[in-house]
Amino acid sequence: MGSHLSDVWFQVTELDVVSGRGCIVTTADGTEYLDFTSGIAVTSTGHCHPRVVAAIADQASRFIHAQVNCYRHPLLDRLAARLHDVTPPSIDSFFITNSGAEATEAAVKLAKQVTGRPNIVVFNGSFHGRTHLTMAMTTSKASYRSGYQPLPAGIFVAPFPHAFRSGETEERAVDRCLDELRTILKSQTAPSETAAFVIEPVLGEGGYLPAPDAFLVGLAEMAAEHGILFVADEVQSGFGRTGRMFAVEASGVAPDIVVMAKGIASGFPIAAIGARSELMDRWPKGAHGGTYGGNPIGCAAALATIDVIVDEDLCGNARARGAQLTEGLRALQDGHPALGEVRGPGLMVGCELVTPDGRPDADRTAAVIAHCLGESRMLLMNAGTFGNVVRWMPPLVVSESEIDRGLTAFEAALVASER
Ligand SMILES: Cc1ncc(COP(=O)(O)O)c(C=O)c1O
Repeated sequence: MGSHLSDVWFQVTELDVVSGRGCIVTTADGTEYLDFTSGIAVTSTGHCHPRVVAAIADQASRFIHAQVNCYRHPLLDRLAARLHDVTPPSIDSFFITNSGAEATEAAVKLAKQVTGRPNIVVFNGSFHGRTHLTMAMTTSKASYRSGYQPLPAGIFVAPFPHAFRSGETEERAVDRCLDELRTILKSQTAPSETAAFVIEPVLGEGGYLPAPDAFLVGLAEMAAEHGILFVADEVQSGFGRTGRMFAVEASGVAPDIVVMAKGIASGFPIAAIGARSELMDRWPKGAHGGTYGGNPIGCAAALATIDVIVDEDLCGNARARGAQLTEGLRALQDGHPALGEVRGPGLMVGCELVTPDGRPDADRTAAVIAHCLGESRMLLMNAGTFGNVVRWMPPLVVSESEIDRGLTAFEAALVASER
């Protein structure tokens, strides 16, 4: 037996990395790679931002674990206050946990308790995690669920507008999807049984696909009409990734619950949900919890990360570098019709690759990503149900020259993979 490590993880690369700084990771043999995966949209402030490193080191010498049920440490309230500063105004009370899936589960548990309703509506193509409940909520790829059925009941899947794929106008796609949701509320889960709509304002694993503002607004109106809660899963899209602190802000919708993880702490495993306090206040004491939630080092990392995002205007950088990236990619579309669609927002950029007759081209996508890695030492990942979306999610500190380097590598990969 070569290794005692489980082989269950899929691998994007075979690289053995030993360190990271900003947008660069370094392998054991000293080779540097441009990391445009950010560890799946996590290292918002870049690898090992000095202020995040200092905050973690400082906190580690005081307290590694201060269990929330046993006693309270001062960073809990500080983090809740700081999250209140940066989340949408409707959100003013916070529960802290460890991972995106746990935070999604917490949001659903809260929604069920305060509405007294059993069911949840999710949207096709979404990814909410790998626990049993969040697998049941996930429809970005069958492989996340297969072998694990049956999954928890009470999850209903409504369509997510994808105008490029359905060949409709955006307006038509939005109207159709809202109509289908109305039908689901009439035919499958009555409003009186529906606790929440849970939606990623920009689909992550499902293909870096933004929900049109009109769709989010329509959902919020339907939710309000029926006393259904609007839950924004911002695990991947939050903390500046889309050029705003939270992607849902662009639509003007005031969510009832926001789910946060990934970019919140630059890589330290901590997650949170924020809710309207009138909801959070009705969550019975002891109805949820967990050993590690609110870990002091995680809180320190999150506080430092939020400070860096604000002080270094990383939302502004995400907008500027995102515009540079999407403009550069759109400029390539003329010479490369395989680049079917290039979409933002900010540094949450997806490129949908298609065959000449418009079908998803997963092979070409894999070839492009492999070329970028092998020839240009740049790490990218795919996304989408059909694996045909190249997703760009560099650290929010990415520079103009690093984006240029990425565009050059990508163009070379498109040329090399032409058939
Ligand atoms: C939108 C979304 N929700 C939830 C999750 C689950 O997060 P975690 O892997 O931290 O459990 C992810 C992870 O990719 C995600 O992208």
